[in-house]
Amino acid sequence: MKTKAAILWEPHTEYVVDEIELDAPQNNEVLVEFKACGMCHSDEHLVTGDMALDPAILEMFGWQQYPIICGHEGAGIVVETGPNTTTLNVGDHVVTSFVPSCGKCPSCVTGHSNLCDLGAGLLAGKQLDGTFRHHTKDGQDLALMCCLGAFAHHGVLSEASLVRIDPDIPLDKAALVACGVTTGWGSAVHAAEVQAGDVVVVVGIGGVGMSAVQGAAMAGAKYVVAVDPVEFKREQSQIFGATHSAASVEEAQGLLGELTWGTNANKVIVTTGEGHGADLAGIMGMVAKNGRCVYTSVANMNANDVQLNLFDLAMQQKQLVGSIFGSGNPRYDIPKLLGLYQAGQLKLDEMITRTYPLDEINQGYQDMRDGKNIRGVLVYD
Ligand SMILES: NC(=O)c1ccc[n+]([C@@H]2O[C@H](COP(=O)([O-])OP(=O)(O)OC[C@H]3O[C@@H](n4cnc5c(N)ncnc54)[C@H](O)[C@@H]3O)[C@@H](O)[C@H]2O)c1
Ligand SMILES: [Zn+2]
Ligand SMILES: [Zn+2]
Repeated sequence: MKTKAAILWEPHTEYVVDEIELDAPQNNEVLVEFKACGMCHSDEHLVTGDMALDPAILEMFGWQQYPIICGHEGAGIVVETGPNTTTLNVGDHVVTSFVPSCGKCPSCVTGHSNLCDLGAGLLAGKQLDGTFRHHTKDGQDLALMCCLGAFAHHGVLSEASLVRIDPDIPLDKAALVACGVTTGWGSAVHAAEVQAGDVVVVVGIGGVGMSAVQGAAMAGAKYVVAVDPVEFKREQSQIFGATHSAASVEEAQGLLGELTWGTNANKVIVTTGEGHGADLAGIMGMVAKNGRCVYTSVANMNANDVQLNLFDLAMQQKQLVGSIFGSGNPRYDIPKLLGLYQAGQLKLDEMITRTYPLDEINQGYQDMRDGKNIRGVLVYD
């Protein structure tokens, strides 16, 4: 069939919205009519080249990175099922999971399906079976971001990459838990293990960071300090449970000194748009004795530029942990978070600052770069 998608031809270019050719779903795949997709910062790393693989690696594995259809925060409706599909039916409402889950690998069976072994193919650009369903109108294969490609009106996806949800939930709101909200909330609740009474700092208040603020507040933090240079983000953070804010890590260090009598933050969560090794020493300086820093930001894949005081790390018994997809189980956490939304306990409506049609994707990303949106969401009619 023919449908419309935003194609990123190479790094440092704009998305080109064009007609594409889509093959029928194969084994364990479904055709989804996407209704919405959040504009997460992770797609942006393919634009900046921070997530561009060495051509020699692509060649060695037979992977393709560009041209690519990005978009990994999608929600839609199943309109066709391929052979041997066992978990989804036509008409099901679904959100994407940017890490597929097989249910059988060591990570899946030990309750860490965010680390499923199927994730090994996330940068391959292909379907899970190693072939392509998406092609340009001239027949060239199109890669997919995280086996998803939700910057498109339709897509063919593995059922392992989709989570069925309650059809009563509006799909533009549901899209947010496909990545940003689940990642940020889980960074606070699962990865940081925020406890009642903790002092928490969140650095970088975009879609992910705002959800970390919300998760920390929900888990009972005493103070939640939201750090962002953009005033709009700092103001909005109060709606989501921040008690204090600061424009920079330096400012937050001073504030923490007053708030905690110099004992610092039990938990610091890093969700800046880009990860930079040079910032880590200052960030770890905000962590209390026996405290934990959760690193969620995506940095350049090839950077090895961290400078850190290891004496301080050991002697103050600090922890530094990475986190992907909120360190949880997408198939469990996504419906749980949507249930909290339905119960009026999780704010999703307030997360969406602006919506755009697919044709305005470049404007949407410019607004993200300019700090205008908590989350911008593409909505397809
Ligand atoms: N680990 C994961 O599983 C995972 C999942 C999703 C997103 N991410 C990553 O999380 C990060 C945040 O994503 P997002 O969609 O919320 O981005 P975003 O662009 O919406 O928000 C980033 C925020 O960081 C702020 N910021 C930038 N530099 C800062 C600094 N030095 N100090 C304080 N604030 C700063 C910006 O003003 C902005 O408000 C990105 O790197 C993204 O790729 C990781
Ligand atoms: Zn994302
Ligand atoms: Zn698995």
